[in-house]
Amino acid sequence: MAGSDWDEKKIKEGLNTEVVGTRFEIFQEIDSTNHHAMELASGGVEEGTVVLAEWQTEGRGRLGREWVSPSGVGIYVTVILHPEGGIAQLPKYTLLAGVAVAEAVREVAGLPAEIKWPNDVLIDGKKFCGILEESFVSGSKIKYVIIGIGINVNTDPADLPVTPRGAPTSLKAEKGEHVDRVELLRSVLQKLDTGYTEIRTGNGENIIHKWRGLSATLGHKVRVELSGGTLEGQAVDIDDDGGLLISAEGGMQKVTAGDIIIVNS
Ligand code: BTN
Repeated sequence: MAGSDWDEKKIKEGLNTEVVGTRFEIFQEIDSTNHHAMELASGGVEEGTVVLAEWQTEGRGRLGREWVSPSGVGIYVTVILHPEGGIAQLPKYTLLAGVAVAEAVREVAGLPAEIKWPNDVLIDGKKFCGILEESFVSGSKIKYVIIGIGINVNTDPADLPVTPRGAPTSLKAEKGEHVDRVELLRSVLQKLDTGYTEIRTGNGENIIHKWRGLSATLGHKVRVELSGGTLEGQAVDIDDDGGLLISAEGGMQKVTAGDIIIVNS
């Protein structure tokens, strides 16, 4: 196994957050940081707790998929939040995570990261980061939100599966050099915290504004498989709920879940 960078003291150096990173749980090996975070959250763990692992044996992706998590080269992290707001705010947390990663990668690695709806993070059309948000709600109130982020940092893409959605990449593969995982993680956590403060103080619109500016989807022709058939059209915007607005033959359609394919890029 490659050596571990995950030292709490080192990560906290220069981290200046209000909520995110109040507590760290760091593992050499775990089944899934999201799985563990869900258990911690249901047990009432402190808000801002960060679960971090060097290796996941059962990393989970969206739509029941697997997230392959080679040891010592990626970032596999989950953050637990206890937002005050109602469920209408939930999509903003998903958008927030994509924005935090894309901005951090631009800053730390100098690579042009973009977000593909809903929140895959890509470089040059190739995915290097996936986000799995899970939540527990009671009536219309959010009890907790857990944001799981997987980033292929120094990963060899040959160690990752090629899926029908394309070949994955890593930051090292795109940059041609090693990327500091601690610096990148710190930047992601810092940006998550800033965005979380914005949402809590009623400035969540700012996240949507930033998302639009980092989008690899808006302005492109897209295709989406729905239960009733295929929808094709121009991706024009996202709304306050994080839904994707597609201008299609039958008029404007809103898509709230699933995977899109960008037809022309
Ligand atoms: C996707 O693109 O399908 C989402 C992938 C999310 C992967 C991360 S890695 C850290 C956290 N723990 C998990 O088991 N999954 C998320």
